[in-house]
Amino acid sequence: MFIAPSILTADFNQLATEIESVKSADFLHLDVMDGHFVPNISFGSHVLSGLKKISKVPLDTHLMLSNPLDYIDQFVEIGSSYITVHVEANKVQESINRIKASGIKAGITLKPKTKVETLYPYLDQVDLVLIMSVEPGFGGQKFMVDQLEKVKALVELRKTYGYHYMIEIDGGINGDTAKLAKAAGVDIAVVGSYIFNAKDRDAVIGSLR
Ligand code: DX5
Ligand code: ZN
Repeated sequence: MFIAPSILTADFNQLATEIESVKSADFLHLDVMDGHFVPNISFGSHVLSGLKKISKVPLDTHLMLSNPLDYIDQFVEIGSSYITVHVEANKVQESINRIKASGIKAGITLKPKTKVETLYPYLDQVDLVLIMSVEPGFGGQKFMVDQLEKVKALVELRKTYGYHYMIEIDGGINGDTAKLAKAAGVDIAVVGSYIFNAKDRDAVIGSLR
């Protein structure tokens, strides 16, 4: 299983050191929040503009924005490899089109209360499906194990229809829940507090794989 540390829980007063401390990761997960789609504000693209200079790890950008279409170009600009938008946001299809037209990989994601069926119109278009296993907005929350049913459904759909998306899970991942996620068929696990609250982050990343 690939590991994507979420920098939401990182110490932004020493971001370069924090990024260095997770250099063995497979992706770097960027949680962008607008204080409207979710009840929290995190960071804009300008804060991350130097990231690609200090990290070779591919950027996995998670837009928790009501109007993601307005911001896609900025996050392409900073070097995102993936940009993921919420199915509950505005102009989802235009956003996916824009991401793909920019030559990078498109992801779709949904809140815990949103049914997996809402993703169906997009599954043949996306490179990534992100399952939220916490209510988006904050790190350090408890894993919602019932969200693994969505993972299993997406594994089946991919097999039946030959879709090519990777399956990512996001929220409350630790040593125990990582095992559940892997067994359910998750390809990439986003991990925030469990990694950034640890001393030896690269060791934690290795233990989660
Ligand atoms: C929550 C974010 C998650 C969160 C994960 O809205 O999308 O990526 O930062 O943090 P942990 O691993 O601490 O739940
Ligand atoms: Zn996230």
